[in-house]
Amino acid sequence: MAVFSWVMAQLYDKVMEGAEIKCLRDWRFALLSNVSGKVLEIGCGTGLNLDYYSNAVTHLILLEPDANMREKLQKKIVLKKKSNIKIEILDCNAESIPLLNNSCDVVISTLVLCSVDNQNKVLSEIYRILRSNGKFVFIEHTHANNNPKRLKWQRRLEPLWTMVTCGCHLIRPTKKAIINAGFLFSEITHQSIHGVPSIVRPSIKGVAIKQSN
Ligand SMILES: C[S@@+](CC[C@H](N)C(=O)[O-])C[C@H]1O[C@@H](n2cnc3c(N)ncnc32)[C@H](O)[C@@H]1O
Repeated sequence: MAVFSWVMAQLYDKVMEGAEIKCLRDWRFALLSNVSGKVLEIGCGTGLNLDYYSNAVTHLILLEPDANMREKLQKKIVLKKKSNIKIEILDCNAESIPLLNNSCDVVISTLVLCSVDNQNKVLSEIYRILRSNGKFVFIEHTHANNNPKRLKWQRRLEPLWTMVTCGCHLIRPTKKAIINAGFLFSEITHQSIHGVPSIVRPSIKGVAIKQSN
Protein backbone atom coordinates (compact mmCIF):
# COMPACT_ATOMS: atom_id res chain seq x y z
CA MET A 1 0.00 0.00 0.00
CA ALA A 2 2.88 2.38 0.83
CA VAL A 3 4.36 1.71 -2.62
CA PHE A 4 1.01 2.40 -4.34
CA SER A 5 0.70 5.64 -2.37
CA TRP A 6 4.20 6.78 -3.40
CA VAL A 7 3.61 5.91 -7.07
CA MET A 8 0.23 7.67 -7.01
CA ALA A 9 1.75 10.87 -5.61
CA GLN A 10 4.56 10.86 -8.22
CA LEU A 11 2.19 10.23 -11.16
CA TYR A 12 -0.92 12.12 -10.07
CA ASP A 13 -0.40 15.43 -11.90
CA LYS A 14 0.73 13.65 -15.07
CA VAL A 15 -2.24 11.22 -15.00
CA MET A 16 -4.66 14.11 -14.50
CA GLU A 17 -3.17 16.36 -17.17
CA GLY A 18 -5.53 15.34 -20.01
CA ALA A 19 -8.66 15.85 -17.93
CA GLU A 20 -7.28 19.10 -16.49
CA ILE A 21 -6.75 20.52 -19.98
CA LYS A 22 -10.06 19.22 -21.35
CA CYS A 23 -12.30 20.40 -18.50
CA LEU A 24 -11.10 20.28 -14.88
CA ARG A 25 -9.04 23.48 -14.98
CA ASP A 26 -12.09 25.43 -16.13
CA TRP A 27 -14.32 23.77 -13.55
CA ARG A 28 -11.85 24.45 -10.74
CA PHE A 29 -11.49 28.09 -11.81
CA ALA A 30 -15.26 28.64 -12.05
CA LEU A 31 -15.94 27.21 -8.61
CA LEU A 32 -12.89 28.30 -6.62
CA SER A 33 -11.87 31.73 -7.86
CA ASN A 34 -14.66 33.51 -5.99
CA VAL A 35 -14.52 31.75 -2.61
CA SER A 36 -13.51 33.92 0.32
CA GLY A 37 -12.76 34.01 4.04
CA LYS A 38 -11.66 30.99 6.04
CA VAL A 39 -11.52 28.01 3.68
CA LEU A 40 -10.86 24.33 4.41
CA GLU A 41 -9.91 22.08 1.50
CA ILE A 42 -10.09 18.35 2.26
CA GLY A 43 -7.96 15.74 0.48
CA CYS A 44 -6.00 18.36 -1.44
CA GLY A 45 -3.54 15.84 -2.87
CA THR A 46 -0.68 17.50 -4.75
CA GLY A 47 -2.42 20.91 -4.59
CA LEU A 48 -4.01 21.20 -8.02
CA ASN A 49 -6.51 23.73 -6.64
CA LEU A 50 -3.91 26.14 -5.28
CA ASP A 51 -3.74 28.15 -8.51
CA TYR A 52 -7.40 29.11 -8.32
CA TYR A 53 -7.74 30.72 -4.87
CA SER A 54 -7.83 34.52 -4.92
CA ASN A 55 -6.60 36.91 -2.26
CA ALA A 56 -10.18 37.06 -0.93
CA VAL A 57 -9.26 33.85 0.93
CA THR A 58 -7.81 34.98 4.24
CA HIS A 59 -7.02 31.60 5.83
CA LEU A 60 -6.54 28.43 3.79
CA ILE A 61 -6.44 25.13 5.67
CA LEU A 62 -5.23 22.21 3.55
CA LEU A 63 -6.13 18.77 4.92
CA GLU A 64 -4.26 15.79 3.44
CA PRO A 65 -3.65 12.45 5.23
CA ASP A 66 -1.21 10.94 2.72
CA ALA A 67 2.44 11.79 3.46
CA ASN A 68 3.55 11.39 -0.17
CA MET A 69 0.82 13.72 -1.40
CA ARG A 70 1.65 16.20 1.39
CA GLU A 71 5.27 16.33 0.27
CA LYS A 72 4.15 17.36 -3.24
CA LEU A 73 1.68 19.82 -1.74
CA GLN A 74 4.38 21.49 0.39
CA LYS A 75 6.53 22.05 -2.70
CA LYS A 76 3.63 23.66 -4.59
CA ILE A 77 2.82 25.92 -1.66
CA VAL A 78 6.39 27.23 -1.60
CA LEU A 79 6.23 27.92 -5.33
CA LYS A 80 2.78 29.49 -5.33
CA LYS A 81 2.50 31.11 -1.92
CA LYS A 82 0.22 34.10 -2.03
CA SER A 83 1.58 36.63 0.42
CA ASN A 84 -1.52 37.62 2.35
CA ILE A 85 -3.13 34.18 2.65
CA LYS A 86 -2.45 32.36 5.88
CA ILE A 87 -1.83 28.71 4.88
CA GLU A 88 -1.94 25.75 7.26
CA ILE A 89 -1.61 22.02 6.55
CA LEU A 90 -3.51 19.37 8.53
CA ASP A 91 -2.26 15.79 8.58
CA CYS A 92 -5.47 13.86 9.30
CA ASN A 93 -8.50 12.17 7.76
CA ALA A 94 -11.59 14.20 6.94
CA GLU A 95 -13.65 11.74 9.03
CA SER A 96 -12.40 13.61 12.09
CA ILE A 97 -11.54 17.25 11.38
CA PRO A 98 -9.76 19.05 14.24
CA LEU A 99 -11.66 22.34 13.78
CA LEU A 100 -14.40 23.95 15.88
CA ASN A 101 -18.12 23.85 15.05
CA ASN A 102 -19.27 26.66 12.69
CA SER A 103 -15.69 27.85 12.19
CA CYS A 104 -15.25 27.90 8.38
CA ASP A 105 -16.87 29.95 5.62
CA VAL A 106 -16.22 27.44 2.84
CA VAL A 107 -15.20 23.78 2.52
CA ILE A 108 -13.80 22.44 -0.76
CA SER A 109 -13.74 18.81 -1.91
CA THR A 110 -12.59 17.95 -5.43
CA LEU A 111 -12.37 14.25 -6.35
CA VAL A 112 -12.16 13.23 -2.69
CA LEU A 113 -15.55 11.82 -1.61
CA CYS A 114 -14.84 8.86 -3.91
CA SER A 115 -11.77 8.00 -1.80
CA VAL A 116 -12.62 8.62 1.85
CA ASP A 117 -13.29 5.61 4.07
CA ASN A 118 -16.62 6.88 5.40
CA GLN A 119 -18.40 9.35 3.15
CA ASN A 120 -21.30 10.02 5.53
CA LYS A 121 -18.95 10.76 8.43
CA VAL A 122 -16.90 13.15 6.27
CA LEU A 123 -20.02 15.00 5.14
CA SER A 124 -21.27 15.32 8.72
CA GLU A 125 -17.87 16.73 9.73
CA ILE A 126 -18.00 19.25 6.87
CA TYR A 127 -21.50 20.26 7.97
CA ARG A 128 -20.38 20.62 11.59
CA ILE A 129 -17.43 22.92 10.93
CA LEU A 130 -19.20 25.16 8.38
CA ARG A 131 -20.95 28.29 9.67
CA SER A 132 -24.66 28.75 8.94
CA ASN A 133 -25.12 29.45 5.23
CA GLY A 134 -21.50 28.40 4.69
CA LYS A 135 -20.68 26.83 1.33
CA PHE A 136 -19.62 23.30 0.50
CA VAL A 137 -18.01 23.45 -2.96
CA PHE A 138 -17.50 20.13 -4.76
CA ILE A 139 -16.42 18.38 -7.94
CA GLU A 140 -16.93 14.63 -7.54
CA HIS A 141 -17.19 11.65 -9.86
CA THR A 142 -20.09 9.34 -9.03
CA HIS A 143 -22.05 6.26 -10.01
CA ALA A 144 -23.65 6.29 -13.47
CA ASN A 145 -27.19 6.10 -12.13
CA ASN A 146 -28.86 7.04 -15.43
CA ASN A 147 -26.66 4.84 -17.64
CA PRO A 148 -27.27 1.15 -16.72
CA LYS A 149 -24.60 -0.19 -19.09
CA ARG A 150 -21.90 2.06 -17.64
CA LEU A 151 -23.09 1.34 -14.09
CA LYS A 152 -22.71 -2.38 -14.79
CA TRP A 153 -19.08 -1.82 -15.86
CA GLN A 154 -18.45 0.40 -12.86
CA ARG A 155 -19.70 -2.42 -10.59
CA ARG A 156 -17.58 -5.01 -12.37
CA LEU A 157 -14.37 -2.99 -12.27
CA GLU A 158 -14.83 -1.43 -8.82
CA PRO A 159 -12.61 -3.92 -6.87
CA LEU A 160 -9.67 -3.68 -9.29
CA TRP A 161 -10.03 0.09 -9.67
CA THR A 162 -10.13 0.61 -5.92
CA MET A 163 -6.96 -1.45 -5.50
CA VAL A 164 -4.86 0.32 -8.15
CA THR A 165 -6.02 3.83 -7.22
CA CYS A 166 -5.39 3.61 -3.46
CA GLY A 167 -9.06 3.50 -2.47
CA CYS A 168 -11.03 5.38 -5.14
CA HIS A 169 -14.62 4.05 -5.53
CA LEU A 170 -16.70 4.25 -8.70
CA ILE A 171 -20.25 3.57 -7.54
CA ARG A 172 -20.88 6.00 -4.69
CA PRO A 173 -24.24 7.85 -4.70
CA THR A 174 -22.53 11.09 -3.65
CA LYS A 175 -25.33 13.51 -4.53
CA LYS A 176 -27.73 11.63 -2.25
CA ALA A 177 -25.15 11.57 0.54
CA ILE A 178 -24.73 15.37 0.34
CA ILE A 179 -28.51 15.81 0.62
CA ASN A 180 -28.70 13.32 3.51
CA ALA A 181 -26.04 15.30 5.39
CA GLY A 182 -28.47 18.25 5.51
CA PHE A 183 -27.18 20.47 2.69
CA LEU A 184 -29.31 22.31 0.12
CA PHE A 185 -27.81 22.71 -3.35
CA SER A 186 -27.52 26.30 -4.58
CA GLU A 187 -26.05 24.99 -7.82
CA ILE A 188 -25.40 21.51 -9.16
CA THR A 189 -24.38 20.34 -12.63
CA HIS A 190 -24.22 16.76 -13.83
CA GLN A 191 -21.45 16.53 -16.37
CA SER A 192 -18.95 14.15 -17.94
CA ILE A 193 -15.29 14.53 -17.02
CA HIS A 194 -13.46 14.45 -20.35
CA GLY A 195 -10.04 12.84 -20.66
CA VAL A 196 -10.63 10.00 -18.19
CA PRO A 197 -11.84 6.38 -18.66
CA SER A 198 -15.60 6.18 -19.22
CA ILE A 199 -16.21 4.52 -15.83
CA VAL A 200 -14.94 7.70 -14.09
CA ARG A 201 -16.74 10.22 -16.28
CA PRO A 202 -20.12 10.72 -14.55
CA SER A 203 -19.72 13.62 -12.16
CA ILE A 204 -21.43 16.33 -10.17
CA LYS A 205 -20.09 19.79 -9.42
CA GLY A 206 -21.54 22.74 -7.62
CA VAL A 207 -22.22 24.39 -4.30
CA ALA A 208 -24.28 23.10 -1.36
CA ILE A 209 -25.29 25.35 1.53
CA LYS A 210 -25.46 24.58 5.24
CA GLN A 211 -28.89 25.54 6.51
CA SER A 212 -29.34 28.29 9.14
CA ASN A 213 -29.39 26.98 12.73
C1 LIG B 1 -8.05 11.72 -6.29
S1 LIG B 1 -7.16 12.57 -5.09
C2 LIG B 1 -7.79 14.23 -5.30
C3 LIG B 1 -6.77 15.29 -5.05
C4 LIG B 1 -7.23 16.74 -5.27
N1 LIG B 1 -8.32 17.05 -4.38
C5 LIG B 1 -7.61 17.02 -6.69
O1 LIG B 1 -8.65 17.63 -6.93
O2 LIG B 1 -6.83 16.71 -7.58
C6 LIG B 1 -7.93 12.05 -3.58
C7 LIG B 1 -7.25 12.61 -2.36
O3 LIG B 1 -8.05 12.31 -1.21
C8 LIG B 1 -7.19 11.96 -0.14
N2 LIG B 1 -7.92 11.17 0.85
C9 LIG B 1 -8.13 9.83 0.85
N3 LIG B 1 -8.81 9.46 1.96
C10 LIG B 1 -9.03 10.59 2.66
C11 LIG B 1 -9.69 10.86 3.89
N4 LIG B 1 -10.25 9.88 4.62
N5 LIG B 1 -9.72 12.15 4.33
C12 LIG B 1 -9.18 13.13 3.58
N6 LIG B 1 -8.55 12.94 2.40
C13 LIG B 1 -8.48 11.68 1.95
C14 LIG B 1 -6.07 11.20 -0.83
O4 LIG B 1 -4.91 11.12 -0.02
C15 LIG B 1 -5.87 12.02 -2.09
O5 LIG B 1 -4.94 13.04 -1.91
